[in-house]
Amino acid sequence: MKVGIDKISFFVPPYYVDMAELATARAVDPGKYLIGIGQSQMAIGPSSQDIVTYAANAASNILTKEDKEAIDLVIVGTESSFDESKASAVILHRLLGIQEFARAFEIKEACYGATAGIEAAKNHIRQHPKSKALVIAADIARYGLNNGGEPTQGAGAVAMIISSEPKILALSEDTVNLTQDIYDFWRPTGHAYPLVDGPLSNETYINSFKKVYTRYEEIYQESFDTFAALAFHIPYTKMGRKALQAVLPKATPQDQERLLARYEESITYSRQVGNLYTGSLYLGLISLLENSTSLQAGDKLGLFSYGSGAVSQFFTGTLQPGYEKQLLPDHHKALLTNRTKLSVFEYEEMFKEAVDYDATTTFNDPLPFSITTIKDNIRFYRNEDTK
Ligand code: HMG
Repeated sequence: MKVGIDKISFFVPPYYVDMAELATARAVDPGKYLIGIGQSQMAIGPSSQDIVTYAANAASNILTKEDKEAIDLVIVGTESSFDESKASAVILHRLLGIQEFARAFEIKEACYGATAGIEAAKNHIRQHPKSKALVIAADIARYGLNNGGEPTQGAGAVAMIISSEPKILALSEDTVNLTQDIYDFWRPTGHAYPLVDGPLSNETYINSFKKVYTRYEEIYQESFDTFAALAFHIPYTKMGRKALQAVLPKATPQDQERLLARYEESITYSRQVGNLYTGSLYLGLISLLENSTSLQAGDKLGLFSYGSGAVSQFFTGTLQPGYEKQLLPDHHKALLTNRTKLSVFEYEEMFKEAVDYDATTTFNDPLPFSITTIKDNIRFYRNEDTK
């Protein structure tokens, strides 16, 4: 039985800061952010938006009435949870109007969470082939102002429907997993921002990719020529390229050229958004599928999921006939183009917005899904999805 991604869409908040302007404000050569890190713009959202609104706005792009009746599993992968107990998936289940007899929960393992969610969804669909699962990756990547991690922030969500009739990517069973207890990036309970050892995180990412990819080749007797493209977790656009280049010397010149060209297509959207944490791999996948003119049905893709701490997975999938008709390139490109550019001052003001969750606060944000009121530490949401 085939199981895989039937629909996929992303949402990012409607504001961004220009990375050349941010570099200038931080007295850094713009080349460092634009080329050294590889980011042109960075998404930022106001306090009337959170992981639930990002997730709901992403999911509402792809959900039909029939999907809402068939979905019986809602999983949110996130490391930006605002409740230690109640899962954001439960709120989303209501906001999106998913039928009542469903399971909803949240998964955390840094940027690996959504991939764990997809694995759980695959197993569920194998047992219940007529049902569908909604897997959402939603995060707010923040390191604080004026520090080394600042140019690698971002925010947004990717929503996917996993089903037994996947119209985009049929996922295979040949995966390689790796777990290593490493403190490269972690966020102890109560910390607003993660603690990060940047150089160690880069090194662990690259070594993890080398390990899982090499093991994949050994176990499955496949090599670079198997893959039309490789998609990576993209914390910033230079990162995946560095990992790819670490294994490419073993590849033929043709394989090198193809994989590097596809990599560039996979980072088009991330370059304008920044890190989505657990959504980054899937934003890269959407970018690859929507910006490549050389991919075709039947092509095999390799995907590298990495979550600091550190858990990695290399897995594969096959593009399905007519996959391009399931994509939303015009919608996604308009979403990025229609954002409002903030000055560095405005970005800092938005970043520093403080909400007292114990008091009553009201917002008037026109987004279809946004927070309207916060009262007694409960967030109330606008829901204009009437499908
Ligand atoms: P840094 O110390 O500010 O930067 O930290 P750097 O000095 O290493 O420079 C970065 C690159 O810019 C270097 O290139 C410089 O040469 C180049 P590289 O050696 O890497 O090829 N550079 C220039 N290039 C052109 N023109 C110039 C110029 N100047 C310098 N003028 C770092 C960078 C990414 C470490 C920092 O931003 C950080 O700590 N970010 C957060 C951690 C991170 O993103 N790590 C990535 C791997 S871990 C991961 O992906 C998991 C994660 O998503 C979390 C999760 O799993 O939940 C983060």
